[in-house]
Amino acid sequence: MTNAADPAIVVVTARPDPGGLTRLFASGVPSLVVTDPGVALAALATKPVDLVLIDAWPGLDAPALIRALRLKPHLAHTSILLIAESDPAEGDPAEARRRGLEAGATDVVLPPLDASDLAIRGRNLIALARAQDAVESQARALTREVERAAAESQEREREIIRRLMLAAEFRDDQAGDHLTRVAGCVLAIADGLGLSEEEGNDIALASTMHDIGKIGVADSILRKPGPLTEPERYEMMQHALRGYRMLHDSPSRLLRLAAEIALTHHERWDGAGYPQGLKGTEIPLPGRITAVADVFDALISARVYKPGWPLERARRFLEEQSGAHFDPDCVAAFLSRWDDVVALVEERPADRAA
Ligand SMILES: [Fe+2]
Ligand SMILES: [Fe+2]
Repeated sequence: MTNAADPAIVVVTARPDPGGLTRLFASGVPSLVVTDPGVALAALATKPVDLVLIDAWPGLDAPALIRALRLKPHLAHTSILLIAESDPAEGDPAEARRRGLEAGATDVVLPPLDASDLAIRGRNLIALARAQDAVESQARALTREVERAAAESQEREREIIRRLMLAAEFRDDQAGDHLTRVAGCVLAIADGLGLSEEEGNDIALASTMHDIGKIGVADSILRKPGPLTEPERYEMMQHALRGYRMLHDSPSRLLRLAAEIALTHHERWDGAGYPQGLKGTEIPLPGRITAVADVFDALISARVYKPGWPLERARRFLEEQSGAHFDPDCVAAFLSRWDDVVALVEERPADRAA
């Protein structure tokens, strides 16, 4: 696209009165007239124009100039009008026309020069260039609009997940911000593992849905203040698979990630976890990360049946269970961000009235 101050037409000519050419079709259009192909290339080095008019003269290698112009990406679609030279020694004008078109000229005018013909072609090419500009800027605007809409719908998806998880938390025996702290610990681990910020954010948000399958567990079990019986424990363990079933066939990438975490957050590195008894790296990384974050926060939080552990005790537990319950890399990543974790969880309720 050209600005008002930039030349809309560049004319390369050796004609003694080049003004006659531009006046034909370009009154009011800023133009730059040059007599040297090198100067033309320099003038067109970075900025597109509406039209390049090459008025060939004996000794000018017009096809070479056209090819050099076409090599510049911003001139790939610019209109180039070639006026083939009128030197009879050049031979067949049709041949000159073919060479010009082959080199990349948009159109070739043959001698003898017909002023009105040239004027019409020139104006058409300028109009074409401007229409193309308009189409391209419309396409760019459309792309921006699509990107904005996609970002907005992504933000809405995240917002809905956050709200749903707030609602789910009311039911569970987990004081208020368990999910927020788990997500914070997940972020710390992801960061410690060197995952990208985007990956970390996705896993953190998806991790908030790890226990969503507990919606199907009866209150009498979910809120039971004492130890669970064997059938109750079995019922409770179903939450992993239920959470997976609720989420796994979603078209949303985030919900599918959440399904994977719901299914695998109770797997153990040593293979003694549930529901599938996966071992080591058979457990998807988001599940391994969430396992560390979830257990850690469960330990340090007060529940109806226990007070919260001091942070150092929970830290020792993670260290002891590294390579047993937990992926050693995830534990190491977590401990490498220990100061952040302490700052994050300090505000938790350490004791809780049931
Ligand atoms: Fe769980
Ligand atoms: Fe949890």
